[in-house]
Amino acid sequence: MSSIPRLPDELTVAHVAGIIAASMVVIRLLCPAVITYIMAGQLKDTETASTWTLASASLVSSIWPTLLRTDSARSGGGVRTTIMVACKAIPLLGLMCAIAGVVTPLGLGEEPTALAPRTATFEYVKDDSVYRLGTSPRGKHPLSRLCNGEHLGGSAVVGPCPYSNTEVVYVDNPDRSGFRVELPNGYNTSVPQEPREIFSSGISGSTVSSFFDIEWRQVTRQTSPSFNITELAVGMFRPLDTLTLQDQYRLVEGLIIDAKAGGIGFRNHTVPVALGRGATWEEDILFIEPSTACVNTNLTLDFEMISKSDKISNTVGDLVLTDRGGFSQLNTTLPTLESVDGQTDPDLQQRAYTAAWLNNAVTMLYLNVTNEKNKPVKGMKSFSYLDSAPGKTFPMPVAAYSRERYEGLRLSTEFGNYLRLGAEAPSLSRGALNYSNPFNISKADFTDIPSICAGTTYRDRANISNIYVACGLLRGAPERVDGGDPMLFEKGSKWSSPLYTCASSLRATIKTVHFSVNGTGIAGLNVLRVAPKTYAADGSDAPLWGLEDWGLRLDQFSPIWGLVSPEMAKKPNVTSVRKPHFNLIGTSIEAGLPSLLNLEDTQSDNLAGASFAQTVMNTVFKVVAEASDADTWGVWPTDLKGLGNLSMFRRWQALSQDSALVPQIINLMWTNIAASAVVGTRGVLGEVNSGINPAGPIPVRPIGNRITYDVRYGIPAALLLSWLGVIVVAAVCCSTCCGGGRTGFAELRRRIQQVSVGRVFTTFLHPEESTLTMSAKQWAQENGKRPIMVDAFASNASKLYTGSATLAIRAVEFLNRRAI
Ligand SMILES: *[C@@H]1O[C@H](CO)[C@@H](O)[C@H](O)[C@H]1NC(C)=O
Ligand SMILES: *[C@@H]1O[C@H](CO)[C@@H](O)[C@H](O)[C@H]1NC(C)=O
Ligand SMILES: *[C@@H]1O[C@H](CO)[C@@H](O)[C@H](O)[C@H]1NC(C)=O
Ligand SMILES: *[C@@H]1O[C@H](CO)[C@@H](O)[C@H](O)[C@H]1NC(C)=O
Ligand SMILES: *[C@@H]1O[C@H](CO)[C@@H](O)[C@H](O)[C@H]1NC(C)=O
Ligand SMILES: *[C@@H]1O[C@H](CO)[C@@H](O)[C@H](O)[C@H]1NC(C)=O
Ligand SMILES: *[C@@H]1O[C@H](CO)[C@@H](O)[C@H](O)[C@H]1NC(C)=O
Ligand SMILES: *[C@@H]1O[C@H](CO)[C@@H](O)[C@H](O)[C@H]1NC(C)=O
Repeated sequence: MSSIPRLPDELTVAHVAGIIAASMVVIRLLCPAVITYIMAGQLKDTETASTWTLASASLVSSIWPTLLRTDSARSGGGVRTTIMVACKAIPLLGLMCAIAGVVTPLGLGEEPTALAPRTATFEYVKDDSVYRLGTSPRGKHPLSRLCNGEHLGGSAVVGPCPYSNTEVVYVDNPDRSGFRVELPNGYNTSVPQEPREIFSSGISGSTVSSFFDIEWRQVTRQTSPSFNITELAVGMFRPLDTLTLQDQYRLVEGLIIDAKAGGIGFRNHTVPVALGRGATWEEDILFIEPSTACVNTNLTLDFEMISKSDKISNTVGDLVLTDRGGFSQLNTTLPTLESVDGQTDPDLQQRAYTAAWLNNAVTMLYLNVTNEKNKPVKGMKSFSYLDSAPGKTFPMPVAAYSRERYEGLRLSTEFGNYLRLGAEAPSLSRGALNYSNPFNISKADFTDIPSICAGTTYRDRANISNIYVACGLLRGAPERVDGGDPMLFEKGSKWSSPLYTCASSLRATIKTVHFSVNGTGIAGLNVLRVAPKTYAADGSDAPLWGLEDWGLRLDQFSPIWGLVSPEMAKKPNVTSVRKPHFNLIGTSIEAGLPSLLNLEDTQSDNLAGASFAQTVMNTVFKVVAEASDADTWGVWPTDLKGLGNLSMFRRWQALSQDSALVPQIINLMWTNIAASAVVGTRGVLGEVNSGINPAGPIPVRPIGNRITYDVRYGIPAALLLSWLGVIVVAAVCCSTCCGGGRTGFAELRRRIQQVSVGRVFTTFLHPEESTLTMSAKQWAQENGKRPIMVDAFASNASKLYTGSATLAIRAVEFLNRRAI
């Protein structure tokens, strides 16, 4: 039943070294003590003179004189000060040496450190999460592209894609009532080599992905009758996981997900192999990230929870729109949007402010808080009266339980939606509100706000300055205002949701990602840091972004973009811009339903880079917001609203209260959906399908160990060193200046002989044959073997000399004399 003694876990090598040193000190003290103890037992009163000399040296230098307080350990009167100091210093130094020997190694430590860079071989590393399980195998589905054209100035019809050899013939009906599209050679959906070369010319030999390395995560095949195609690879979508709650970087198959600020980086994950303790390195990675600005409308939607039995048709009671300055302190100047080039400045803040202003102003007219120009009286100025004050509330109609839930967050492209204009069957409280609406405001008065804010619509040309912007009204997650538990929707609890308008754009950018690998699998691969790549102040070394510009409209095709080399940028129909970021072009204002991600529909083709980011953002603004809340627990993506998930609700609630953090909500929603939608197929090894164009050698820094030292543990050793210095200086001084040759070696030898016990005895017992100055060899030959009896008194054992008392006195006198 004996348990093996174990060292405590926190022992380090340094501690063990200290313990060993301490043991050595103990052994060093103990062994001589034991040996001299045994030796003292072996000594007899009568021994030869040499034996006495030798034994005395060991006995006196052992620890016993100190322990037993014998003569040599006593420092009572009569000892000269210099001799006493010297004699005391020696054991003190010994003690310091022992302490320093034990303490000094305790300061030793080691820490991992990155060693000098070297090149390494990289190897694909598989993701174990649903993100890989939900990824179609690569290389089976070629990229495909469908485009529209135009005939007779009508809306978009089937047309050839740029660089493609597809021939489209429009045959007008004889009665000019319409036309028919003919594809004599079929429709070529492949992406030709020329655009591939042009739009990946800027990345050669780097780890940055090109446009063509962005692919739909899930790919399927379908027919496309209008394009006369029987089978075509197309992207499809299925949500895989919820990342919004993780405030971190996450690596999944094909992507680096920035769940801190929002954004995804494209990378087929590889790690350097055969590096025992891991390594760190950095890579430049193409990221696509949302950029959002939000403006507080300074209106809140306040409500009270009612109990379930009261919820026959209403979800909440006492719903009011509260003026928090949004009406009463509205700047009466109509904001203007400068038409700056979208690549220079997307100007999201001003767009969001304009949307907020219009939203508030139209709402004010509906509520008769103020008046329109020339109304109600001709010649009357707008904002002639202002019938509101901070804190004034306006009762609002409550949506039916099956239509909208107020406990979560809501994002919508429908401004003024809290008025529920043109809504379905009016809910119970609606009749009671009965606003007079003197300026005949209808839902249509709000519908222009998104396009005013976005600027670009589907009828605009797909050129480099028509950037993608989406605008919407965000009702933040409600905050409890009656002081109760902020997580519990108890009956009678009072809540307030802020209303913001937000404008989002999308941009491609290059970031430097610092990786470390430690351990195996994707779990061992970590992102330490993601930093925007820095460029010279004049931007001359910023990346050159190119865009396919064929004079087509945004509803006709989604152009290819990418990093281009300066030579390729000069090719016809390529426009380019040298900027750290490239704002993606496109529109959130589409004719019919914009292209969205959902579970039923597939994408129309397989060219993710051209449209995925815009499609995901449209999905955030439209589907996330406008899907009926009745489906909350059944259908995607309602958990993004924080209705069915309290953790999500908490995160949105925290972000909703701070204007500076609100944009993050949209950025994270986008990231969440985008991560399920696409993958990056390029890694260090090159393009996944062909392995061509691999990245150049990447210097990695293997992890090694560095020895550290905590200087506090060096104090005893430092003291010892300084004392050594003092002693050396003293020795040099003594041998040169003070006292001249008195410290010479001859003098030293003489002194040793004077205190050699055997010699002292023989010199006093046989003064005729022994002296204190004769050489050691001579003394040993002539006197060493003489037996000396040391009892109460010393005596010549053979002669049994009786005048021992006299001898002792003589000895003392003699020694005193010689010593002076
Ligand atoms: C469809 O394509 C085939 C060739 O693949 C062609 O023969 C046929 O005429 C096309 N049909 C139409 C309606 O264009
Ligand atoms: C709401 O108030 C904030 C802070 O005072 C202001 O910046 C913002 O422009 C206001 N919103 C509107 C729509 O006036
Ligand atoms: C109102 O807005 C205009 C421009 O939109 C600005 O010049 C003016 O300073 C603003 N007034 C106040 C009181 O903020
Ligand atoms: C609108 O408000 C103004 C100012 O308060 C008031 O004179 C007018 O009668 C109101 N109009 C209606 C239709 O209520
Ligand atoms: C209000 O607008 C609707 C259409 O927006 C129109 O049919 C109606 O006549 C208008 N009513 C008044 C009183 O102007
Ligand atoms: C490697 O991982 C282990 C366990 O996760 C950790 O203790 C260690 O500090 C890591 N090493 C480096 C160099 O990051
Ligand atoms: C460039 O685009 C125009 C249409 O804007 C087209 O007519 C022309 O053929 C294209 N140039 C080349 C070299 O393909
Ligand atoms: C990454 O590369 C590996 C090996 O080349 C390949 O099997 C895998 O399908 C690639 N993954 C993606 C998302 O491209």
